[in-house]
Amino acid sequence: MNEMTGEVLGKLTREEKASLTSGVNFWTTKSIEHAGIPSIMMTDGPHGLRKQTGGSDHLGLEASEPATCFPPAAALGSTFDPELAKRVGVAIGVESAIEDVAVVLGPGINIKRSPLCGRNFEYMSEDPVLSGLMAAGLIRGIQLQGVGASLKHFAVNNQETDRMRVSADVDERTLREIYLRGFERAVKDAKPWTVMCSYNRINGVYASEDPWLLTQVLRDQWGFEGLVVSDWGAVSDRVAGVAAGMDLQMPGGGRDTDGEVVTALNNGELDESALDDSAGRMIELIRKAQQRPKAPWALDVDAHHALAREAAAHSIVLLKNDGDLLPLVPDSSVALIGEFARTPRYQGGGSSHINPTKIDSALDALSEELGDRMAFAPGFPFTGTEGTEKMRTEAADLAASRDVAVVFLGLTEEEESEGFDRDHLSLPAVQLELLAAVINANPNTVVVLSNGSVVALPFADEVPAILEGWLLGQAGGSATADILLGRSSPSGRLAETIPHRLEDTPAFGFFLGEFGHVRYGEEIFVGYRWYDHRKLDVVYPFGHGMTYTSFEYGDAKAEVRSGGDIDVTVPVTNTGERSRREVIQVYVGLEGSVVERAPRELKAFSSVDIRAGGTRDVTLTVRREDLAYWDVRVGKFIVEGGEYRLEIGASSRDIRIEASVAVDGDEVRIPLSVESSIAEVVADPVAGPKLGELMGGFGASGQDDDNGDEMMDLLGSMPLERITSFPGTGVELKDIQKLIEESNAAQK
Ligand code: BGC
Repeated sequence: MNEMTGEVLGKLTREEKASLTSGVNFWTTKSIEHAGIPSIMMTDGPHGLRKQTGGSDHLGLEASEPATCFPPAAALGSTFDPELAKRVGVAIGVESAIEDVAVVLGPGINIKRSPLCGRNFEYMSEDPVLSGLMAAGLIRGIQLQGVGASLKHFAVNNQETDRMRVSADVDERTLREIYLRGFERAVKDAKPWTVMCSYNRINGVYASEDPWLLTQVLRDQWGFEGLVVSDWGAVSDRVAGVAAGMDLQMPGGGRDTDGEVVTALNNGELDESALDDSAGRMIELIRKAQQRPKAPWALDVDAHHALAREAAAHSIVLLKNDGDLLPLVPDSSVALIGEFARTPRYQGGGSSHINPTKIDSALDALSEELGDRMAFAPGFPFTGTEGTEKMRTEAADLAASRDVAVVFLGLTEEEESEGFDRDHLSLPAVQLELLAAVINANPNTVVVLSNGSVVALPFADEVPAILEGWLLGQAGGSATADILLGRSSPSGRLAETIPHRLEDTPAFGFFLGEFGHVRYGEEIFVGYRWYDHRKLDVVYPFGHGMTYTSFEYGDAKAEVRSGGDIDVTVPVTNTGERSRREVIQVYVGLEGSVVERAPRELKAFSSVDIRAGGTRDVTLTVRREDLAYWDVRVGKFIVEGGEYRLEIGASSRDIRIEASVAVDGDEVRIPLSVESSIAEVVADPVAGPKLGELMGGFGASGQDDDNGDEMMDLLGSMPLERITSFPGTGVELKDIQKLIEESNAAQK
């Protein structure tokens, strides 16, 4: 806490400090006039601004001021482009500044543990490094405008069912390597002004009351200096929250928890320094917000719409393009089918619901270019089944009469939203039946998907081309037209695997849990880590995405820099006739590791434009800290020494070139104990020979011959002290204790 903050704090009574650390209403904090503390507004987020001036709610029901609706995280994550995320962040920051909003509630980077999670559309990926880097881009952009971001939902909020109570029961290695790693990256790289703690419990403790999470990990270990705000309504026990490091309860205006905090102080149940820390952080947050220069601008609706269109085009993933069906041949006639082409689903339901400044539909955008060469049929109703057959016949007839059919399929808000999870991966039956009829009428069929999270693609082998459009924001319609017509080339990559069946997914059998607990039994094997570990076939793998050209990868070089980071350089050639973008990915693996690992993990990626026929030497940096596994014995991230395999490719299952690099490991010394196994003791440079002496030849000296090996196979796992249980060894417990003490002391 700096001196200025200390001075302001000194002017406040206990009651005032308590009042400062809870909201006054849905979106604003309390002011304290005599101390010169104004109130500030914090509001959703994350892919645009949701500033409500009339009725307020955290469910996205009431109206909000018009703002640009950028592609939600599911789409933006697929760009694999943190620089683009930063530009989107800048635009959101500008809009927030114009509206005098101090903090935007986003980005959200919970790991997509199961494709069923209703809120996956608001999260970036199943991979923590990708999630963390994309979030860091957005946060930097927002905060460059003097507006704070709020990284959410911290942490392990991976399902909507029972989200306000459920306990995510996760082992620490999995927490650190998968569920916290992205947060750690974003916190360290981009320093968000605030972090929002989640609704759920983690291993039985509410995130909003968890000193381990909010203080030990977030502040002490990661160095977070900002403020922790509760998710809206996430506080069950405010006093426990303040003690744990939860600084601001939102929203305000409900139960008198300020009074509860003051009573706890007066009773001595709560340490005043905890409240001082929280109130101090509030004062600092407000000061930062006040330093934002007054916004001179009016919103440039068109410029932001153009950015939303660019971002949407980069988000679209071309899953398949047999016979180069796309881009559409200039003179071809097109049957445009599916209600989503006319009525786009461009964002998810719930608190992130932005009121867009305008909306482009693919129907309008394509009609503008194709005129009479295109005709439209809705194909299916969004709800119910009335008139389905007639619509299907009409669509199939239309498809038969044109060169190409472009069919828009997807999920509606009734099928996926914040607040609930799906229970299957299927698209609605009416849509699948429609598609079957269209393919039958015209095999030249392109499918365009609108969905917030993965859907099953039983038709993947039957259609020549598929575009995964996710939810693309307000300019998604024109961006999709840009891709279909070849005005832009697709460069999006899957930030989540598309599996064949729900039964194949990592969390199957665990997801949702029971009796208030959900067990993360798949541990670190989330997303592609699982499918690779289990050697499961998938429909489309993580990182997959095609473009309208092909790229060749040359030989890769890897070099360890002095600080330990690894630079991987690979020449990539665009063998096509137009400038195009490639997303180069580096996956890392370590054979024979001391811990169970996934075969490959994404550690670096780069999204680069390469001109036609040109070659670029692309250098990607794998950070040393990202090689580390969480060592439960020492409670630390440890980089294991060894020869790491670097796989460089265009997806997790399209590895083009490999390299390897020798990495020096961190020293891990686990003190020996009488419980250590004989093998562990023998392997110890000091204790091993001593044991040999004690046992008359057994131990280090006995390892060299076959008898020694055999003995070690038989006895290696025996705890050392257990030697004393057997007759005739002549070894006493006190000898063993002495050996252990001396060996540990010699290595301190
Ligand atoms: C959501 C948050 C959101 C808040 C305010 C909550 O229900 O989980 O993501 O920022 O409401 O609308």
